[in-house]
Amino acid sequence: MSDTQIDPATRVTGDAGGLSFPAGFVWGAATAAYQIEGAVTADGRGPSIWDTFSHTPGKVHNGDTGDVACDHYHRYAEDVELMAELGLQAYRFSIAWPRIQPTGSGPANRAGLDFYDRLVDALVARGIEPMITLYHWDLPQPLQDAGGWTNRDTAYRFAEYAGLVAERLADRVGTWITLNEPWCAAFLGYASGTHAPGITNPPDAFAATHHLLLGHGEAVPVLRGHGVRQVGITLNPSAVRPLDATAPADVAAAARVDGLQNRLYLDPLYGRGYPADIRALIDAQFGGAPWLRPGDEQIIAAPLDLLGINYYNPTIVTSAPGQPSSSVHPGTEDIRFMPATGPLTAMGWSIEPASLTSLLERLSRDYPGLPFWITENGCAYEDEPEADGERVADPARIAYLDGHLRAVHEAIARGVDVRGYLVWSLFDNFEWAEGYRPRFGIFYVDYETQVRLRKDSARWYHKVIAEHGLPD
Ligand code: FCB
Repeated sequence: MSDTQIDPATRVTGDAGGLSFPAGFVWGAATAAYQIEGAVTADGRGPSIWDTFSHTPGKVHNGDTGDVACDHYHRYAEDVELMAELGLQAYRFSIAWPRIQPTGSGPANRAGLDFYDRLVDALVARGIEPMITLYHWDLPQPLQDAGGWTNRDTAYRFAEYAGLVAERLADRVGTWITLNEPWCAAFLGYASGTHAPGITNPPDAFAATHHLLLGHGEAVPVLRGHGVRQVGITLNPSAVRPLDATAPADVAAAARVDGLQNRLYLDPLYGRGYPADIRALIDAQFGGAPWLRPGDEQIIAAPLDLLGINYYNPTIVTSAPGQPSSSVHPGTEDIRFMPATGPLTAMGWSIEPASLTSLLERLSRDYPGLPFWITENGCAYEDEPEADGERVADPARIAYLDGHLRAVHEAIARGVDVRGYLVWSLFDNFEWAEGYRPRFGIFYVDYETQVRLRKDSARWYHKVIAEHGLPD
């Protein structure tokens, strides 16, 4: 899509608050399979860990499941029309592995591939660039039964699955993201257990991290072998900072969290191997790294074409001697994560666009070489239609998106190479452990009728895309 280099001469800042983006900058939106598709038993799809997890009482708010979600599997054609009306230039969606390999291995299920084939054709016909995410957390359940991401074999199964999808779609899809947020898959899935598969054993989260990264590294050459043009991975780097930047203990606390959430992933991906401080921490507290074999770090360092960044909110930490480790962040003894402040979103997250600018600058300084894409950014509110049943006013979302786009623009102005921005999310959808309560969409979804309504933010985004920047 955007092989175009960003030309600083095209950076135009308008008067009266309008802001224009570089030529070639791509506007899109993102979703994920389990969050929108529904149709969980259609056409031979097998169960995933999220089917199992969401059907386990007490795991998901209100007992919600992805069984129906936005029924996108059956409504994809109308949904692509909505994307076209919005003016989307790119659409990032994920492939449900259990539609392609219902048991996690073996030959492709043709009917599963056919669905994505139809979706890709519909997008291409409307001039919308498809961007595929291969793994957005819905591991086939039979692979979990064999250990899931703690089992090295899952990495090889992932590369095999990547090949099956690429064989069918690489002719029409130029940009491929291997994994979405491996930190979440590993640490929410295996340490805090708040996401599928719901395991609470911190050493497993480190093993899962390694096998996710290994699977990524094994998949990259497979994708290239099928002629894929651009390959990347999407991380959720923590925009972490010390509460008191002048206090050495706070600075050290932030550095540890940065190591556990950021450098643990970025360093091996950028060919530097695992960071020594975090390796030492794993050795001291989590049983070492029996999962690491000679040559693995070279495989993980397979050259990439882009880095996907998902950003929602900042993390602020302070030194707190005696504080037990957070269950989500094993290894953070003596560190306190500060509660969110200010107006919060429906996720309880604070809103701080400036942290996105500084995160992008930091990544561009410490991890140069790849263009960045904002592969997710957005916010949840409990939106509801007005009395007329048509309008959904969501001024807080417009303010959030406007602020974060300004933050991206500022990073670009300071020299960071950002090629595109994908709103999370196109539709209200199944927000994992939070179920359907938080609404992230720029389209409202009535889950009873499956009617989609443009929120005010969708109308606003339409204008942003048309003007290639922020309106005055
Ligand atoms: C990200 C996930 C995405 C969505 C947003 C809110 O961590 O990638 O699926 O849940 O958060």
